[in-house]
Amino acid sequence: MRNLNERTITQAVLKSNAGSSDDRLQEVMASLVQHLHAFAREVNLTEKEWQYGIEFLTSVGQICSPTRQEFILLSDTLGLSTLVTAQNHKKPEGCTEATVFGPFHVEGAPHYQLGDDISNGMTGEPWYISGKVLDQNGERIPNARIEVWQADDAGYYDVQSPELAEHQGRGVLQADEQGNYYFKSIVPEAYPIPHDGPVGKMLEALNRHPWRPAHLHFMITAPGYERLVTHVFREGGDYLDSDAVFGVRSSLIADWIRHEEGMIPHGGYSDTPFYTMNFDFILNTEDE
Ligand code: BEZ
Ligand code: FE
Repeated sequence: MRNLNERTITQAVLKSNAGSSDDRLQEVMASLVQHLHAFAREVNLTEKEWQYGIEFLTSVGQICSPTRQEFILLSDTLGLSTLVTAQNHKKPEGCTEATVFGPFHVEGAPHYQLGDDISNGMTGEPWYISGKVLDQNGERIPNARIEVWQADDAGYYDVQSPELAEHQGRGVLQADEQGNYYFKSIVPEAYPIPHDGPVGKMLEALNRHPWRPAHLHFMITAPGYERLVTHVFREGGDYLDSDAVFGVRSSLIADWIRHEEGMIPHGGYSDTPFYTMNFDFILNTEDE
């Protein structure tokens, strides 16, 4: 393996990697190497450009921390997250579609009872969310685990404020025996993905904005059904057609209805205006 040149280098690398006993690793690496080399050839990559690329990837790594995941942002803004999500969750007709996970989910969210206020002091207008968890035949799935997370009315997640002593705007609930879920929160607003780092610079250089349309994240699990990771977006909201991370699906847009003061959906009275949203989730079984 000497005297390699621009024509022979690709095969040489593939041959070097061929000794792995892990077939899948070999398949993925062979494709990655071929596509990377093809890319460099196609654009006639200069040394200066590749040096810039190395510096960019280095800075993406350097800004990462337990609460700042720049590589997820890079994957999201390049559409890779949406591609991988779409090809791994081809839902049967009628089932709720999945969308990107994003970097703001954390383990250990507080547990709440149905009807509780998961905003836990987050600022924003009152919002009552309800719906059902169903199977493909329209039958109710009992006791699903429902985890939600969201931004506040200024577009920030709790994890972006390290001084907070408790989680806000996220929680775990259990649907009842009839598949019903309901809880209170505050209306989240559209927000820019973190853009003070290398991914933000990349978007700026490409003349792209960093905004995501207003949404609420859901992760729903029930024994025997495929885990659903998705969002529900606000009908009529900004950026639905230019989401910075390509996550919007028409089937995931719902009306967030404004009400004047009056009776609230889960009982009681609100002396300020409030919003409601109703959304049913349809899960597919694990083997589909
Ligand atoms: C989110 O919706 O939380 C999100 C998704 C992708 C990138 C940044 C944020
Ligand atoms: Fe989000």
